[in-house]
Amino acid sequence: MREANLIKTVAALRVALAELRRTGARIGLVPTMGAFHEGHLSLMREARRECDVVVVSVFVNPTQFNDASDLEAYPRDERRDLALAEQEGVDFVFAPSVADMYPQGFATTVAVADLTESLEGAHRGRGHFDAVTTVVAKLMGIVGPDVAYFGQKDAQQAVVIRRMVTDLNIPVRVEVRPTVRETDGLALSSRNVRLSAEERRRATALHRALARARQLARGGEREAGAILAAARPELDRASIDPEYFELVDAETLAPVTRLNGRPALAVIAARVGSTRLIDNEPLGGD
Ligand code: PAJ
Repeated sequence: MREANLIKTVAALRVALAELRRTGARIGLVPTMGAFHEGHLSLMREARRECDVVVVSVFVNPTQFNDASDLEAYPRDERRDLALAEQEGVDFVFAPSVADMYPQGFATTVAVADLTESLEGAHRGRGHFDAVTTVVAKLMGIVGPDVAYFGQKDAQQAVVIRRMVTDLNIPVRVEVRPTVRETDGLALSSRNVRLSAEERRRATALHRALARARQLARGGEREAGAILAAARPELDRASIDPEYFELVDAETLAPVTRLNGRPALAVIAARVGSTRLIDNEPLGGD
């Protein structure tokens, strides 16, 4: 087992990586907000497989929370995270302070237009993705990774980050890895710990609705309206009224009324009790 170095400042990480970079090491970055679960660990494993040096950032980015109580309640456990990262063979856990990431006078925002306006952008406010792209651009600037790893779980985030990397000519390969799920289908999320036992059971309806949508699409149904209507009872049975449940183009995120051979996504967001959950299912281009 390698020892994972905990690094707390931008300056210290730069020093640690400079020599490795000079020797031509391939650097992988896994940006996270900590409270690791199998989803995070699967990204670290992939980075470990592909790269010489693996950096995992743990930064609960305050600017991307539109709800102060959500930020307050966000789970944090640095010691557990460090131990798990170590088990995955991570080289550096980069856990900067808010003051180090946003020093006095900080005034720059990286904003991706259009793609950020629908779905999560519409429900969480457009500042959410601006905050995500700003912090990810900073992390890429600090680490200078060859590859950066993201989860399909946050499908819109991944699309937006790909756009930013292309538009800003950031020399990094963006890898998007499949969603890791519990055995009953619930997508792993740091927020799942907030669900009561009863909410935890109801929450599985999100995946059932998505799976039903995929089943219909695979069976040849093309009309989004028919697919969504057939999947809806899964949500109704669990008394879940989604904030959105839509079929969108996997690249442009534009609503799809009829599947047309391009890769599409079924996307859903819903509150279960007071916990907001999101999930999605690729529908393929068939
Ligand atoms: P966080 O929610 O901690 O997620 C870190 C990474 O893990 C993201 O790329 C996310 O998509 C991925 N992930 C989360 N749940 C997953 C699952 N069940 N299966 C596979 N991957 C999963 O996303 C963020 O942090 C932040 O917005 C961040 C990008 C770090 C910027 O602050």
